[in-house]
Amino acid sequence: MAATLEVRDINKYYGEGDSRVHVLKHVSLTIDRGDFVAIIGQSGSGKSTLMNILGCLDQASDGEYLVDGIPTREFDADDFARLRSEKFGFIFQRYNLLTSMDARDNVALPAIYAGSGVKERNARAEDLLVKLGLEGKTGNRPGELSGGQQQRVSIARAMMNGGEIILADEPTGALDSKSGENVMQLLMQLHGEGHTLILVTHDRHIAEYAHRIIEIKDGEVISDERRKPLPASVPEPGPRRKGSRLAYLKNQLGEAFGMSVQAILAHKMRSLLTMLGIIIGIASVVSVVALGRGSEQKILAGINAMGTNTIDIMPGKSFGDRNSARYRTLTVDDSDALAEQSYVASATPTASASGEVIYRSKSATGSLSGVGEQYFSVKGLELARGRLLNREDIDTARAVAVLDDNTATELFGAGEDPIGAVILFAGHPFEVIGVTKKPAATFGPRSTLTVWTPYTSHMARVSGSRTISSITVKIADGTSAQVAEKEVTRLLKSRHRGVQDFFTMNTDSIRQTMESTTATMRLLISCIAFISLLVGGIGVMNIMLVSVTERTKEIGVRMAIGARQFNVLQQFLIEAVLICIIGGIAGVLLSLGIGAAFTLFVKDFPMSFSTASIVLALTCSTLIGVIFGYMPARRASMLNPVDALAQE
Ligand SMILES: Nc1ncnc2c1ncn2[C@@H]1O[C@H](COP(=O)(O)OP(=O)(O)O)[C@@H](O)[C@H]1O
Ligand SMILES: [Mg+2]
Repeated sequence: MAATLEVRDINKYYGEGDSRVHVLKHVSLTIDRGDFVAIIGQSGSGKSTLMNILGCLDQASDGEYLVDGIPTREFDADDFARLRSEKFGFIFQRYNLLTSMDARDNVALPAIYAGSGVKERNARAEDLLVKLGLEGKTGNRPGELSGGQQQRVSIARAMMNGGEIILADEPTGALDSKSGENVMQLLMQLHGEGHTLILVTHDRHIAEYAHRIIEIKDGEVISDERRKPLPASVPEPGPRRKGSRLAYLKNQLGEAFGMSVQAILAHKMRSLLTMLGIIIGIASVVSVVALGRGSEQKILAGINAMGTNTIDIMPGKSFGDRNSARYRTLTVDDSDALAEQSYVASATPTASASGEVIYRSKSATGSLSGVGEQYFSVKGLELARGRLLNREDIDTARAVAVLDDNTATELFGAGEDPIGAVILFAGHPFEVIGVTKKPAATFGPRSTLTVWTPYTSHMARVSGSRTISSITVKIADGTSAQVAEKEVTRLLKSRHRGVQDFFTMNTDSIRQTMESTTATMRLLISCIAFISLLVGGIGVMNIMLVSVTERTKEIGVRMAIGARQFNVLQQFLIEAVLICIIGGIAGVLLSLGIGAAFTLFVKDFPMSFSTASIVLALTCSTLIGVIFGYMPARRASMLNPVDALAQE
């Protein structure tokens, strides 16, 4: 009969240099299939070290180890994981069950890493638990079971993938004598069914059960005694079913996902705190972008309401010049000269003055603007009732007025018809001929009262001079705003004897300035967003690292029962990504909520959410999960199983 396990002259050292300890010294032994071996020795003699090497949890410092005649020297971490999964079943002194899973899931876990389907493995796990006398306890978590019961669950787990060779390290060490006895009976029974059994104990009484007792002292085998013969025939283990690799990978992904969800749910509070950074980061980014878009749309609408393709010419040096009132240089002649140019469709002078508007007993402060007849179409003002100014009104300087909606409501009651009424502005009477509609969009709240009259009437009756306060030029079709603006400036400068005592403003250049400002703002916001998400990501990484440290033992257990490095990596990575995605979704929802609240309190403009920014936010949070989850996940996967198991 072929030897199942064979160690040839192995040594094991711990530590380096002066602190190096020689734990196993030139150990050679062979363990046959179907044997029941007890390894006995005092505490610290090297029993566990030897057993971990036999069970492929750890490797010897030198020497040879053969499993079924195959040397393991060239094996990598995955090869050892495969051996652990297929051949060995471990029973630990402290059971090492995963506390967040019930008994059945604990038993079924090795089958997950071996790639078996959920129905099949759950049925087998339940059968095993019934066989070990745990009927009715399958749904209990380890905390709800006694020590003896937990040890029986762990025996069932050891047998889940076949458990051809069962390695038990002090399996009765933590149990009272009756439970211990019970466990030993079970192990004897398993041996009778053909499992090879290797038992480590410091208790000679327990060792008496074995067929062969190997005693070690200070890392050396000092006696090897066969007490009962090897069984004559051992049933061959059944052939293992092998699925396709693709199906296996898909299955593993699904299982890792399930386990990640379980882990997140098991640590709800911590998961929530981890997500918090991401939630706040994503919510602030999405909200700020929506806020920016909303205000930008409003401002653009306001610019459009100022009229398209027009140039305004005003006296002074630039917009907001405080001395502009002193410049009295723009005249109706300037306007007429401009109107004759080929690049100008029309030019309208505007003269305005403020004063008191009176109708019967009501009065209000407003401004009277003297305008041309094109003024209304250039500014996009629409008529609500009556008529607008026409050419004849201008030419004959009629004392007529068009009111804006504010003035009409201010001076006239609900039932009164303003058309035909005579109002007084600064003592001069004007007949109301029309009222304009409320404009669709404006800059800020519009509370000013405006009355329009022909500029000719304004000059003749109110100001008494030919100087005006601005000229609005409508650019001819096919001429660019920039070219027209240059030409206007050149012409007026020459008319004003080379002095530039006016400035121009065109809606296109305002829009361009506005757009470049918002682009800068967007860049700034993106930078802040990037930093806040970076901080959130670092938070995720920190907590994942803590989580790996805290769950080192769990990782060790998973590895002992057959998890490969990639299983562990995958599980922690999925956990990080999942936390980030959930955080991202929560962040988006939060900002939608902020948007809803915003519309309740701010009537002026709404936040404008774009699908693109939401998709981008979620993509970002997923990427953060991958990037910041990778390091902790990799650290978890690179853990040495024995070291991980040794963690408390
Ligand atoms: N990871 C380790 N690093 C350093 N020394 C260790 C480590 N593991 C075990 N040892 C030492 O190796 C010796 C044998 O340990 P062990 O095999 O656990 O003994 P036993 O199981 O027989 O009680 C002990 O002296 C122990 O201190
Ligand atoms: Mg030990």
